[in-house]
Amino acid sequence: MEEIKSVQWFPGHMARARRQIEQSLKLVDIVIELTDARIPESSRNPVLDQIIRNKPRIVVLNKFDMADPAQTDRWVAWYKAKGITAVALDCKSGKAVNRLAPAVRQVLAPQIAKWEAKGMTGRPIRAMIVGIPNVGKSSLINKMCAGGKAGKAEVRDQPGVTRRNTWFAAGKGFELLDTPGVLWPKFEDQTVGLRLAFTGAVRDEIMDTEGLAALLLKEIAALYPAQLSARYKLDNPDYSAMQGWEILSLIGRKRGMLISGGEIDTERAANMVLDEFRGAKIGRITLEQQG
Ligand code: G4P
Repeated sequence: MEEIKSVQWFPGHMARARRQIEQSLKLVDIVIELTDARIPESSRNPVLDQIIRNKPRIVVLNKFDMADPAQTDRWVAWYKAKGITAVALDCKSGKAVNRLAPAVRQVLAPQIAKWEAKGMTGRPIRAMIVGIPNVGKSSLINKMCAGGKAGKAEVRDQPGVTRRNTWFAAGKGFELLDTPGVLWPKFEDQTVGLRLAFTGAVRDEIMDTEGLAALLLKEIAALYPAQLSARYKLDNPDYSAMQGWEILSLIGRKRGMLISGGEIDTERAANMVLDEFRGAKIGRITLEQQG
């Protein structure tokens, strides 16, 4: 599993990121906001709504390969009901990435019609990619620019580091602007912090691995008990009557993770559970559910 990137956040950086995004908005026709389909709410900051105001926007529910497909459909419908187009993508394999360009054109149809009326045919569509760290921004840019002149996209997640705007020619009449500032998650919310730690988006320095895995297991047991039992060959225990650490111990025992004296090596079990969740080995799981 990848090393979890750690990011330090300071109010000054946030203000600067906000300013950078606001300024760059003038350069683009549309904002492409990436979110994590497993935690659609926790992986975005609602402050973005205030920043982008009436700018056309499209939401990407990324990493949909790891999320529950039925839930992803519901999230797409939920956004649609709010008048926002959302598309589910897998920017790692590139699956469904070709859905994005037509969806963007559709959102911008009135604007494109105006350009054409003015004789501006062939004007490229300029889009800004925004999203919290690790949500898949550079993967999306790489996939959209694959084969193009832009080469491999480079994205640095260092708040406070001044960056010039980086444009990528994505072909098919698209130009992509890499996030001008880091869009921070809603760190002040503890549940959000936990969910970001579950998915590996941020390192949680407060919570120990076993505590984190125990909380994650309790959530999975409540939402996807059959998948949990199947993965760890558990005999459908009554999860509702169990604490997270009890589920963790059960899994450790089942996997034969013992230390001297026959005690269960819960730390090893916790690392395994977190890795397996982050690798979607427990199944396609959406922790934030819609409907
Ligand atoms: P960022 O620019 O927003 O910070 O995110 P980045 O593209 O670097 O992606 C962060 C991690 O998420 C990468 O994994 C990337 O491969 C993975 N990823 C991005 N999009 C998807 C997706 O749609 N599905 C899945 N399953 N994973 C996705 P990594 O472990 O850091 O790197 P690596 O595994 O690619 O080597």
